[in-house]
Amino acid sequence: MNTVAVAASKRYDIRIGSSLLSTLGESVKALGKVQKVCIVSESTVFPLYGAAAEASLREAGLEISTFVFPAGEASKNGTTFLELLNALAQAKLGRQDILVALGGGVVGDLAGFAAACYLRGIRFVQVPTTLLAAVDSSVGGKTAIDLPAGKNLAGAFCQPSLVLCDTDTLNTLPEDVFRDGCAEVIKYAVLYDPQLFEQLENDGMDFDREAVITRCVELKRDVVMEDEFDTGARMKLNLGHTFGHGVEARSQFTLSHGKSVAIGLALVTRACAANGICSAETSKRIVDLLAAFGLPVTIGYSPDEILQYALSDKKRSGNSVNLILPRSIGDCAIAPTPVDQLKSMIEAGL
Ligand code: NAD
Ligand code: GLY
Repeated sequence: MNTVAVAASKRYDIRIGSSLLSTLGESVKALGKVQKVCIVSESTVFPLYGAAAEASLREAGLEISTFVFPAGEASKNGTTFLELLNALAQAKLGRQDILVALGGGVVGDLAGFAAACYLRGIRFVQVPTTLLAAVDSSVGGKTAIDLPAGKNLAGAFCQPSLVLCDTDTLNTLPEDVFRDGCAEVIKYAVLYDPQLFEQLENDGMDFDREAVITRCVELKRDVVMEDEFDTGARMKLNLGHTFGHGVEARSQFTLSHGKSVAIGLALVTRACAANGICSAETSKRIVDLLAAFGLPVTIGYSPDEILQYALSDKKRSGNSVNLILPRSIGDCAIAPTPVDQLKSMIEAGL
């Protein structure tokens, strides 16, 4: 097992390793003063791991309630959120009690936001069960629900009290969902870590999960500690996301987030090569690695379509968008880019 310590507005540990779900009860108990725990999960994950989570919490002498909602992004909305708050109230959770988010990014975002709001804030523990949640959404305290006007438009910064990443839970992930998480792993390597990039080139999808998740979490931890509230360095985590968001929204969310990010990353990288920001060799290595992981690297949408949807991204500020540009592997720049230059970037990158 590896432990990564985070010291942001709250201090907490991220534990990564095999068989950690069986330690959930003692780990929650060790956070102190807790009597009641509500497990928040969804209809695919709870039947797989709910019993093990409950058994561990029960063994630690904790009183358990559960809230299980239908799996999928469509549930990450205001209705489920209010149902969850009501369930917490009905189970009479108090200020000292703890919510456990057992699932992927959808569960973590929704449960985290409920924890931030219920009784003006209670503690929560993230138990990520997807690769994306393990390397990204369970770390750093961004919580949110979707609104009809767009994804993640209501939320809060609220750090968890503990993240328990049991790598065994990834064994039941459909390969395609695992692949989606790999797009985020590749993103970290391009942003910060040439050695990790080389390791992924050598190992492909058979990479050592505990080691690679730990490395990604360390990288994200460093960013969150430098810029918890996303006003500077944390923006780099948006690499591939501006055009990726355009592609994802244009597909009306039929294309997964991971695959959209892969296309967005390939697109911005090729645009950088065309504009002399990175070398042709760097661009080829990044695009080839995405393709080697079975991720898409282009799509048949027009530049105008991608642009139109990319501009609805909430990270736009006035007439410019902060694009993250790879200069070489491990070195990316934040570049405020006028909106009227984006179309030519997309044309160069498609
Ligand atoms: P998800 O939670 O919907 O999980 C993907 C699929 O995998 C679902 O069908 C789920 O039922 C299934 N699943 C989960 N764990 C499983 C397991 N162990 N075995 C079998 N099936 C399993 O999606 P996700 O990709 O984990 O997360 C996407 C969400 O995360 C989006 O809502 C996105 O906005 C959010 N997100 C948040 C942050 C953040 O910083 N808070 C960062 C990135 C993404
Ligand atoms: N997933 C982007 C962030 O946490 O900032």
